[in-house]
Amino acid sequence: ANERTLSIIKPDAVAKNVIGEIESRFEKAGLKIVAAKMLQLSQAQAEGFYAEHKERSFFGDLVGFMTSGPVIVQVLEGDNAIAANRDLMGATNPKEAEAGTIRADFAQSIDANAVHGSDSPESAEREIGYFFGSEEICAR
Ligand code: CMP
Repeated sequence: ANERTLSIIKPDAVAKNVIGEIESRFEKAGLKIVAAKMLQLSQAQAEGFYAEHKERSFFGDLVGFMTSGPVIVQVLEGDNAIAANRDLMGATNPKEAEAGTIRADFAQSIDANAVHGSDSPESAEREIGYFFGSEEICAR
């Protein structure tokens, strides 16, 4: 089914200047970018986005990392976009990510892991709404 998912290109990948290489993988896989912006997240924005992890031991490091530099937040649309994006990203820990995935090719560590993608239709809906109003998402 046609779906939308929230994708973030994280500060490590922006700093490495591989935004275009990552976008190219989405495009080659048939996903369309229907909304996108570059943002420097505030601490409150990062904490709110990752609220489901607030009791986890890595929460402070995660928020610190996500506010360490600009990110690209974007909406990808396509057939099974949520799973398709997760296949392209590879495992959360780049050491476990399959060869040829974004994290295997561009990520350093479980924190600096290049990209984020929604993990379910419910989280996609919440995460897209967290960063975008409906008027910011384009039909194409
Ligand atoms: P992301 O998909 O953005 O969602 C939460 C992030 O927390 C995850 O990617 C990782 O970058 C980071 N993280 C750090 N440590 C862990 C861990 N032990 N388990 C899961 N995520 C972790």
